[in-house]
Amino acid sequence: MSRLRIGVIGAGFIGRVHMEKFGELDDAVVVGCTDMSADLATAAARRFGLGRVFADADELIGSTDVDAVVVAVPNRHHADLTVSALRAGKHVLVEKPMALNADAARKIVDAQRASGLTVMVAHQMRWLPEPREVKRMAEGGELGEVYNAKCGMMRRKNIPGWGSWFTRMDESGGGPLIDIGVHVLDMAMWLLGNPKPVSVFGSTYAKFGPQRRGLGSWGTPQWDGRFDVEDLASAMIKMDDGATLTLEVSWAANTLSDNSHFIDLMGTEGGASIRGKRLVYTTQKFDRPVDVEAPVPVGEDHRTLLARHFLESVAAGTTPMSDAVSGLVNNTILDAIYESARTGGAVELDWSFLD
Ligand SMILES: NC(=O)c1ccc[n+]([C@@H]2O[C@H](COP(=O)([O-])OP(=O)(O)OC[C@H]3O[C@@H](n4cnc5c(N)ncnc54)[C@H](O)[C@@H]3O)[C@@H](O)[C@H]2O)c1
Repeated sequence: MSRLRIGVIGAGFIGRVHMEKFGELDDAVVVGCTDMSADLATAAARRFGLGRVFADADELIGSTDVDAVVVAVPNRHHADLTVSALRAGKHVLVEKPMALNADAARKIVDAQRASGLTVMVAHQMRWLPEPREVKRMAEGGELGEVYNAKCGMMRRKNIPGWGSWFTRMDESGGGPLIDIGVHVLDMAMWLLGNPKPVSVFGSTYAKFGPQRRGLGSWGTPQWDGRFDVEDLASAMIKMDDGATLTLEVSWAANTLSDNSHFIDLMGTEGGASIRGKRLVYTTQKFDRPVDVEAPVPVGEDHRTLLARHFLESVAAGTTPMSDAVSGLVNNTILDAIYESARTGGAVELDWSFLD
């Protein structure tokens, strides 16, 4: 099999991770990268031994040396770059969230369908060992009917890059909900078997960010920038089969939390609880609650598994996990949470546009 030639747009934190991970795989070659900061692109190209620094995203997308594009830039640019890459005949691995909102996400779905090319959203948490183990158990029926789930990631003091694109609504589309919430939401929807969400109720708050409190070490602050997103969000999502999912995320909050992701699936026969790297099954035996600690062997790195899955999906022409439709579903739920937070009422979802 010939190697897939990859071009990476964005040489920031995650762009460099993709350069490293694809660079380790035999079936891929990262031919070049680009970034608004030429210095950053040049440094990344040197570090990962890439043959070329493209002048800008257009040049990279238009290059006949590129088969697939990794979109690793701030959220606002995801949809436009993905759509133009698809129109230029390139497969796309796009960072999360797939788009700034559902309208932009729908453009990606339309372009993907028109092109028949691969679009995958980089939700590497699906590739962690614990969720994969839970997925296996859930699909094997060992949890019974899963009717309630909760998930989240409560960071206590971790607002990234105050004033940078992370905290500017027009660049990011929101705060922790769209930044880290989209990961746990995606994972929970996948573990639940992708039910159809029908109703969403949520609240968002900004109690720390506007006062420049709760700052973390992630990202580079821009003190002449602004903070106009939330720093905490809480939501309930009701599915068409009656199941419920609650989601809570924060960048900064006064709460007892170890900052890592959590998920609880509650089924009629058993439950599965993930706390970061810890996995516990809960059930009842002899009329007593029973907890089973389930250490999961750590296999290959989850980001490597994600990169490999992208290559395999392109090679086989198969729909990848975390495809464009799943990205649209996530964006639609996020939009509904933000709308509910604004209006104070529940938001009913209509999925007829997917038919
Ligand atoms: N999957 C994950 O675990 C994960 C982790 C971090 C970030 N992300 C996502 O990746 C994206 C980038 O995040 P990051 O942390 O790497 O940010 P970053 O700020 O470190 O890097 C973004 C880079 O994009 C460049 N850029 C901006 N617009 C550009 C354009 N039009 N053309 C070329 N370059 C452009 C910037 O100069 C910057 O170097 C975001 O969407 C974020 O949500 C995902």
